[in-house]
Amino acid sequence: MLQRVVRSTVIDAPIERVWAVLRDFNSHDRWHPAVEASHIEGGERGDQVGCVRSFTLKDGNHIREQLLTLSDRDHRSTYCIVEATVPLQRYVATITLKPVTDGQRTFWHWESTFATPPGREAELRDMVAQGVYETGFDALRRHLRQGEDLRPAGSAPMPTALPLPTRRVVLHRYGGAEELRAEDAQAAAPREGEVRIRQRAIGVNFIDVYLRRGWIPQMLPLAPEQPGVPGMEAAGTVLDAGPGAGGLLPGDRVAYLGPVPGAYCTVRSVPSDWVVRLPPAVDDEVAAALFLKGLTADYLLRDLGRVGPGTRLLVHAAAGGVGLLLCAWAKHLGATVLGTVSSEAKARLAREHGCDQVIVTRDYRFADAVQRACGGADVVVDGLGVAAREENLAALARCGHWISLGQASGPLPPIEPDALLAKSLSFSRPVVFDYVASPAVLAQRAQRVWAALADGAIRVPPIERYSLDAAAQAHERLESRERTGALVLVA
Ligand SMILES: NC(=O)c1ccc[n+]([C@@H]2O[C@H](COP(=O)([O-])OP(=O)(O)OC[C@H]3O[C@@H](n4cnc5c(N)ncnc54)[C@H](OP(=O)(O)O)[C@@H]3O)[C@@H](O)[C@H]2O)c1
Repeated sequence: MLQRVVRSTVIDAPIERVWAVLRDFNSHDRWHPAVEASHIEGGERGDQVGCVRSFTLKDGNHIREQLLTLSDRDHRSTYCIVEATVPLQRYVATITLKPVTDGQRTFWHWESTFATPPGREAELRDMVAQGVYETGFDALRRHLRQGEDLRPAGSAPMPTALPLPTRRVVLHRYGGAEELRAEDAQAAAPREGEVRIRQRAIGVNFIDVYLRRGWIPQMLPLAPEQPGVPGMEAAGTVLDAGPGAGGLLPGDRVAYLGPVPGAYCTVRSVPSDWVVRLPPAVDDEVAAALFLKGLTADYLLRDLGRVGPGTRLLVHAAAGGVGLLLCAWAKHLGATVLGTVSSEAKARLAREHGCDQVIVTRDYRFADAVQRACGGADVVVDGLGVAAREENLAALARCGHWISLGQASGPLPPIEPDALLAKSLSFSRPVVFDYVASPAVLAQRAQRVWAALADGAIRVPPIERYSLDAAAQAHERLESRERTGALVLVA
């Protein structure tokens, strides 16, 4: 009677990564502990249907197996034993992979049928199930976690637990953009729950300017021996991972944001809770341009502003990094979108990104125009701060909501409750990090941003690129009011 063994598991790695190992019929001596040596007979390729692999096992047994089918489309291969010193007869096995719905993990199904000499059924079933399949699952996990699948066979192991050289931009004292200086340093190895990332693109945000000016010293404290490194987000590739790093693997392309500055550098260790894997369609520079700003647009529209069909939304700096995303996404959600910008060129761009009515003003005068256009705004997203205070109050409709997002023109003084009373207004002062405070929520929001990009609800904003060493210039540009879209440092 034929015996049947079926085992399956989920591997914490995208399907392309797992399949790249398993489709190679000659890879097992690099990751499966039962296999001492493997070669493909007759010099054929390891993915050539019909090829025969010859295994020497650690226990001294010898097995020859033939590849019967291989489908890259279905991520499936079938093989059989043609000759073996173990008594497995008519052994045929199939490996099938399926992506888990989050796209970052892989379901692996391994099954076989075979005959055995009488009386040895249970022993050989157990050997296949435990000694080959279960052991193989664990071993492949380890292999991927250590990034060994990314190294050419026989090359040196990746450095772990050692600091690595990094280039970083530091601040010794608060002040103007000229205070930003580039220097060489060492990036610590990842600790428990951390990954070390080779950063390729770093998002520049207005909060970096506030930190540099010393407006939020508790977030970026400076000490003589310990200069501050600004930067809240970056994208790149995982170099190595500490224990318990959420299944992230060396070689994974990722983006992160976090409430502790330090992203203006080439190599950095960060908590894996801040990190998401990037879909193939999103390159590092696009991720750095979109990640923090897109997540911000998501929580503003979806959670805080509850923007939907008919919402009258006023977006300040509508041609800026956050502004363009807000305009496009809100329009897609059916809102009436009004925006303020400081030039005609910016007005054109904001319109192209879905802003229905653009008010051009350099001196923060917009309330009359908003009232005339739509009778007042239900939601104002305000990154301007002090200079727009009175106009915001005047521009809001009854029961309107003023979301104070930032303070590009200067910090907002305290708001008296009575200032809100006249029209039953509400006021909030959110920060993105509280809206992505758990890995599950972060992953969900990131997923929504990538989906919005894929289905055209948002577009990649114009990106201005600067080298990491030119961070000071990038800051000057951000403060100039001359530019549009997002700024990215390329590392
Ligand atoms: N709280 C959060 O969760 C969160 C997250 C992300 C961003 N933000 C805030 O959202 C706002 C937009 O951020 P962003 O990174 O996308 O920047 P941005 O909008 O690309 O750049 C800032 C824009 O603000 C306008 N602005 C008005 N007065 C200014 C002044 N005195 N100096 C400089 N700019 C001035 C300019 O647009 P015009 O010339 O067209 O007026 C400028 O382009 C910022 O206030 C930022 O702090 C907050």
